[in-house]
Amino acid sequence: MSWIHSVLFLFLVFRWCIAGESSSPEVTDDGAPMEISEREALYSTIQGFLGDSWNGSDLYPDPCGWTPIQGVSCDLYDDLWYVTELTLGLVHENSLACAAKDWISLGSNLESLEFRSNPGLIGELPETFGSLTNLKSLVVLENGFNGKLPTSLCNLSSLKRFVLAGNLFTGTIPDCFNGFKDLLILDLSRNSFSGTLPSTIGEMVSLLKLDLSNNQLEGKLPQGISFLKNLTLLDVRNNRISGGFSQNVEKIRSLTDLVLSGNPMDIDDMMGIKWENMGSLVVLDLSKMGLRGDIPYGLTKLKRLRFLGLNDNELTGTVPSKELETLPCLGALYIHGNNLTGELRFSTKFYEKMGTRFKASKNPNLCQYDIVSESRSYVPPLGLKPCSKMKKTEGGLVILQTLRNLKKEESSSSMSLMVTRRVLSNGLTWDLLLELSLIVLLI
Ligand SMILES: *[C@@H]1O[C@H](CO)[C@@H](O)[C@H](O)[C@H]1NC(C)=O
Ligand SMILES: *[C@@H]1O[C@H](CO)[C@@H](O)[C@H](O)[C@H]1NC(C)=O
Ligand SMILES: *[C@@H]1O[C@H](CO)[C@@H](O)[C@H](O)[C@H]1NC(C)=O
Ligand SMILES: *[C@@H]1O[C@H](CO)[C@@H](O)[C@H](O)[C@H]1NC(C)=O
Repeated sequence: MSWIHSVLFLFLVFRWCIAGESSSPEVTDDGAPMEISEREALYSTIQGFLGDSWNGSDLYPDPCGWTPIQGVSCDLYDDLWYVTELTLGLVHENSLACAAKDWISLGSNLESLEFRSNPGLIGELPETFGSLTNLKSLVVLENGFNGKLPTSLCNLSSLKRFVLAGNLFTGTIPDCFNGFKDLLILDLSRNSFSGTLPSTIGEMVSLLKLDLSNNQLEGKLPQGISFLKNLTLLDVRNNRISGGFSQNVEKIRSLTDLVLSGNPMDIDDMMGIKWENMGSLVVLDLSKMGLRGDIPYGLTKLKRLRFLGLNDNELTGTVPSKELETLPCLGALYIHGNNLTGELRFSTKFYEKMGTRFKASKNPNLCQYDIVSESRSYVPPLGLKPCSKMKKTEGGLVILQTLRNLKKEESSSSMSLMVTRRVLSNGLTWDLLLELSLIVLLI
């Protein structure tokens, strides 16, 4: 198996770390002091990946000092530098020739182990990972690992960062997070994990980010999730999670990013949430969840909101445009693909600010309150019709549209506006106003 090759090179490095403790080792005399054997092992490890033409002593004479190597981190123990982190990039299947050995004795110095972006790394994670009890960071990102997670991972309770995203893991997520009191980041996204969410999730009291998106998880969010008082990101998009929301997530006041889209959440549960209590929210994605009813008014109280996704639900009723427009940070608003009705009353300025990050199309009964824009660059949002009546002329090529007279309160002048729109013979209006004639009548 190819993964074991890369792992064995780590072994080379850390075996030297351990051996160094018993005898008195030869130490480098320039730069950051480290054992010569440690440094040589590091060079040969990297050479194993990059080929014989790579000359470490030439390029990086002081790898823990003034010539740091990308992907290598060192720490100081007893006045000597040791490699504690090695990030493995692309490994070629035949770049190494090692016998598959048991590596249970791998150094407990190891604090960080990373396998990144290497689809050639396949097979199950080895049970022996569980012996790396000093690991603070385990990152297995975008490789080809598959199968179930070994339960020995439950041993890694010193972890602060645990990332298995973008592999092919299956089976349930082990329910053993009760010991993980220091864990800050748990990212198991983009795998094929199934079953319910582990109930011990709520015991990772330090957790900041929980990303379980794009799996096949089902059931309800466990109650314990409300105990994660420091959680800022909860992303469970594209699973089959069906509830347990209002009584839990609403209590996590620290949440800034909440992404629930693509889950068949229980509607009553979702619509019962008092959004106004979640004032830290910056990103809220509730798209593709089968939501029904009005757009919850509490959403208009979320002053920090930058992204609001409500698209592709079955929402009805009117859009609180005025209130949404007053949200000072809002930079993306998606309400398309619903059954919203009535007039949108966003201003030109709002549309100009949002650009393509506003979508309201595919709401058959929604229209835009007539906007009088003196800016020729103004383009109405795609797929929204104006609320004023459209009158087709015979022949269907040109229509004249008279927008209402506008009373300017301050100047007590009124303006009448005539807009000529070309209409394609099949009845579709062009999205751009091709001709715009303004007649301003000052009274
Ligand atoms: C690396 O370069 C040094 C001289 O700069 C040389 O002495 C050494 O043999 C080279 N090592 C390898 C593995 O080529
Ligand atoms: C888990 O850790 C204990 C010690 O804390 C150790 O005895 C055991 O072998 C470890 N399990 C695995 C699978 O490495
Ligand atoms: C939560 O965050 C606060 C402030 O950053 C910190 O003082 C506290 O220790 C954290 N709580 C836990 C359980 O980690
Ligand atoms: C949309 O709402 C209207 C009433 O406002 C209703 O007549 C229509 O059936 C609804 N369409 C869908 C697809 O739910």
